[in-house]
Amino acid sequence: MPNPSVPGPRSVPSAWWADAVVYQIYPRSFADGNGDGMGDLRGVLHRLPYLEELGVDAIWLSPFYKSPQADGGYDVADYRQVDPLFGTLADFDAMLQEAHRRGLKVIVDLVPNHTSDEHIWFQEALAAGPGSPERERYIFRDGKDDVPGSGDGRLAPNNWKSIFGGPAWSRLTEVDGSPGQWYLHLFDTRQPDLNWENPEVHEEMRSVLRFWLDRGADGFRVDVAHGLVKEAGLPDWDGAASMVEGTTGPHRESHLPGDAPHAHTDAEEPHRAVSPMYPPSPFFDQDGVHAIYRDWNRVLAEYGGDRMMVAEAWVEPAERLARYVRPDEMQQAFNFDFLLAGWDAERMAEAISASLAAAASVGSPCTWVLSNHDTVRHSTRFGLKDPTTFPKGIGAGDEQPDAALGLARARAATLVALALPGSAYLYQGEELGLPEHTTLPASARQDPTFFRTRGAEIGRDGCRVPLPWAEGEPGFGFSSGHSGQASEPWLPQPDSFGPLAADQQEGEEGSTLELYRDAIAFRSAHHLGQGTVRWTEEHAPDSGLLAFRNGDAIVVSNLGFASAPVPEGYSVALSSGPGPADDRAAMREVPVDCTVYLLPD
Ligand code: GLC
Repeated sequence: MPNPSVPGPRSVPSAWWADAVVYQIYPRSFADGNGDGMGDLRGVLHRLPYLEELGVDAIWLSPFYKSPQADGGYDVADYRQVDPLFGTLADFDAMLQEAHRRGLKVIVDLVPNHTSDEHIWFQEALAAGPGSPERERYIFRDGKDDVPGSGDGRLAPNNWKSIFGGPAWSRLTEVDGSPGQWYLHLFDTRQPDLNWENPEVHEEMRSVLRFWLDRGADGFRVDVAHGLVKEAGLPDWDGAASMVEGTTGPHRESHLPGDAPHAHTDAEEPHRAVSPMYPPSPFFDQDGVHAIYRDWNRVLAEYGGDRMMVAEAWVEPAERLARYVRPDEMQQAFNFDFLLAGWDAERMAEAISASLAAAASVGSPCTWVLSNHDTVRHSTRFGLKDPTTFPKGIGAGDEQPDAALGLARARAATLVALALPGSAYLYQGEELGLPEHTTLPASARQDPTFFRTRGAEIGRDGCRVPLPWAEGEPGFGFSSGHSGQASEPWLPQPDSFGPLAADQQEGEEGSTLELYRDAIAFRSAHHLGQGTVRWTEEHAPDSGLLAFRNGDAIVVSNLGFASAPVPEGYSVALSSGPGPADDRAAMREVPVDCTVYLLPD
């Protein structure tokens, strides 16, 4: 029995972001404007016409701030400077101005959970010593004694593990050479966590927000938005650290929403999903984070133009995530339940229904995302034997994907995402159907997770490989905005990128690039981003079929094992399959691993 309808927000916000298609730029790998093999802001400027033509509404730039690049720029040494690798503040201003001229909004990344160890505050904290106000900006603690009563402080203050592997604490050597205090870093050693109990930290981050708002930024993607506040007393926790709340290892299959018992008993709040073995982690999704986002909401409200924030918060269930997008907090949160559902009709249908319902309960539109700079590209995940797995990187020794199958499913999944009401986030290169680079040599790897786990986690380099713009050029045209001799791209590109280069797909019927352009244009022409989802008669996730109506269109996605009929009275307007457009009008069946947009005859 099909579920007839899924609630939409009572009144859909009319702001630009409510139904925006946002394109994520990972600046290191998008386009190189100065020929040094590293992407930069001039490269972005040069490629804005491509993005305008793709039809997206906004770009989100991962960090381009001054940084020693210990974590690809998510280790910020100065929140108000552009790193010379990426250009200058003037380059940012020029890029933003040109984006605006072309009708594109610009979202910048804000990294408030931690700084770089090269940030002036951390340097001052090291110099100032224990008990100083400078140390109060971070989370410094004395160690526990190895030999009781000895005061040796040799043991970390608690047992927390870093998300990137290894302990979440590092011990200092004080300036006088003596073994010193410990500091907390949920991520790399070079990313000390800020102390959000300290009003000075709040003041500084408000000022950073204003700095970029004053320059014209339209919004912020808030990094690790669920992590800023830690439970008082920093109690031990026996779970294994992972970005996904309550999970205990690299694969989260056994901890999906629904199969995790609730151990938290706060009567007023939706329960946090936790593993059967562990209580909620003391460092993620603490209730205290919400006061921070209410404060920032007020800062953004001082500026015109519907400025926005989108939370990177890996929390579940969907009701907990919805708390980040209450009317006085952030505007959006990434819908990772949808991303984590994989290529599976029941899980996808459940994620769609649950996310829409949770978002509607707080009057916020949903977001839809399938890939980003932290996850294995969906064209590769969906080509694995189990297309619901969520590996933390893929290396040459791991199962290799079926590239053609993965791409077919990725195209089909994207057509689902782009047909859903709310806002869609695309990750650079997915519009070219790029696969993960699954055979990067260890010598090329840069992701700290690879090193901190001693290779047990391959890490995220495979989805961060520089984009191919022109097949026949060195580095597949990554540095083609530059006239002179260009250096090699900072990560090697696989041969499979050549035929997928933008210049090979441009104007080619059936190419992934043209499919994305057509799907975004259809979404806009039929106002799918502002619509509602109503499951149709054909909807049967248990036999692999998703089918919903949105506005005048019907979307049918076949994740099953047999082709499915096109409903009477409807014709295929757009198909994720590779066939030419002429064939589509005559299609009476939706093949396996294909999504179609249907319109009434
Ligand atoms: C977020 C970013 C990721 C980064 C981490 C630490 O998850 O998306 O790339 O490594 O935060 O800042």
